[in-house]
Amino acid sequence: MSYATIETEEKDGTGFIYFNREEHLNTVTVEMVDEIMKALSNMEENCRSIVIGGRKNFSAGADIMQFKDMGTMKAYEFHRKLNDLALYFREFKRPIISFLNGYVLGGGLELSLSTDIRVCSRDALLGQPEINLGINAGAGGNVILPEVIGRNRALYMVLTGEKIPAATAYDFGLVDIIATNPLDEAIRIATTINNKPENTVILAKRAVNSTENKVKKDLDYEAALFGILFSEKDTQDRINNFIKRKGI
Ligand code: COA
Repeated sequence: MSYATIETEEKDGTGFIYFNREEHLNTVTVEMVDEIMKALSNMEENCRSIVIGGRKNFSAGADIMQFKDMGTMKAYEFHRKLNDLALYFREFKRPIISFLNGYVLGGGLELSLSTDIRVCSRDALLGQPEINLGINAGAGGNVILPEVIGRNRALYMVLTGEKIPAATAYDFGLVDIIATNPLDEAIRIATTINNKPENTVILAKRAVNSTENKVKKDLDYEAALFGILFSEKDTQDRINNFIKRKGI
């Protein structure tokens, strides 16, 4: 099966999903979300684990080009789309290991938060820069991030929009493992998991992700707040300024 925004491969029991929009820093589009979900669904029965990421960059976040002239309702729906993928990761039967290279920002970081194990390169930069556009973080940046790194560190990231280096992210507990070659390390972990008893792996993941109902409700609330901010002139101006830099 071929896709426009991702590349896939199945090898030794692991399904690989490589983001394939490197010329756009793997920024996330609706098409990409749909394709990742489709690829995962095709791999769910035959692969014992999934490795997902980008070869140069994980992702610089949602593709801001999609926000042009977006109103409240469309923004809410866009956020729900990202939420669908985050929830899909969490509910997916097999463990999902993300490898984080380069920029891991905004929606990219948020999606990585819903993968099960995160392996990060030494020179990655991670952040929640949405505030610079006048919007709030989506797909769990306000909901899952505080669960992972604590309320205060989450607020530091969300309110300043600063990009933090991998070493700080590791200290925060924002990534699980630092590696010189995160893809190789992700493959090593996937191989280890593939050799464990299959049903025990499935049920262990299910047990850890049992907070699902609360997360779903909180993500929907976050999406509603995201939508509201699209009615702010300041937000529209900031989005348009970003887009204008490209001469559009
Ligand atoms: N959406 C759409 N385009 C994006 C983007 C995004 N989230 N992030 C980067 N790009 C584009 C840039 O506009 C630029 O396009 P161009 O080459 O056609 O001009 C290209 O990717 C490279 O970005 P550039 O800013 O030139 O590279 P850089 O290395 O100096 O900075 C970033 C990279 C990621 C730090 C910077 O582009 C940035 O801050 N992007 C916004 C990130 C963001 O806010 N993400 C959350 C979105 S909700």
